[in-house]
Amino acid sequence: MAGHAAKRETTPPPGLIARRPTEDDHPRLARAIDRWWGEQGRGRLPRFWLRNFSGTSWLAETSDGSPAGLLIGFMSPNHPDEAVLQLIATRPGLRRRGIARGNVARFAADARARGARRIRAVIWPGNRVGVAFLREVGFSAVDSVGGAHLYGSPAVVDYDGEEEDRTILTLELEPAGQLDLNSVGAPRSR
Ligand SMILES: CC(C)(COP(=O)(O)OP(=O)(O)OC[C@H]1O[C@@H](n2cnc3c(N)ncnc32)[C@H](O)[C@@H]1OP(=O)(O)O)[C@@H](O)C(=O)NCCC(=O)NCCS
Repeated sequence: MAGHAAKRETTPPPGLIARRPTEDDHPRLARAIDRWWGEQGRGRLPRFWLRNFSGTSWLAETSDGSPAGLLIGFMSPNHPDEAVLQLIATRPGLRRRGIARGNVARFAADARARGARRIRAVIWPGNRVGVAFLREVGFSAVDSVGGAHLYGSPAVVDYDGEEEDRTILTLELEPAGQLDLNSVGAPRSR
């Protein structure tokens, strides 16, 4: 009825649990990511990620044990001061309720505890929602050499190969004391 639209839920569903995903979770998480991401998500979660990076990744589950949000992240072996946010996704029916924000907060705490000074994420600039989300939780886009902008974001043309342009964003975790990690990813006060 006009003027009586249902109020949008803005908080995580009651009973949401966050835990480390395991390799055994792979079949259902791979299916979930395929569904959540749509066509572009097909094959986005090879078993490799859960076999090797469970210890720095996070899975949020609803009270019935079904997947609600996933973050795959790791410490960069080549850049010990950097953690890498490899993949983040939330079940479509549960978006805009702070689930991904919470996963970033948990990953930031992991990264900081392991000595990272920043988290780095690389994303297709046309993923406007992804870019908006990362900016909202505290990431900043790194200015590109030559100053290219695509879809309104600084972008590195052909970063991942021909026509594979990317925006690079970082979340600074240092200097120590400047960033209250409890507030990273915490819902904004409304
Ligand atoms: C991006 C994604 C992970 C966000 O998950 P989410 O759980 O809905 O995110 P949150 O609820 O924690 O959102 C935090 C903030 O990000 C911003 N944001 C999230 N989705 C947004 C959207 N569709 N449009 C604009 N801003 C958005 C908002 O500022 C939001 O805060 P608010 O709801 O209080 O305004 C989710 O949309 C998704 O799974 N997308 C498909 C996969 C993908 O593109 N991943 C990004 C690759 S890095």
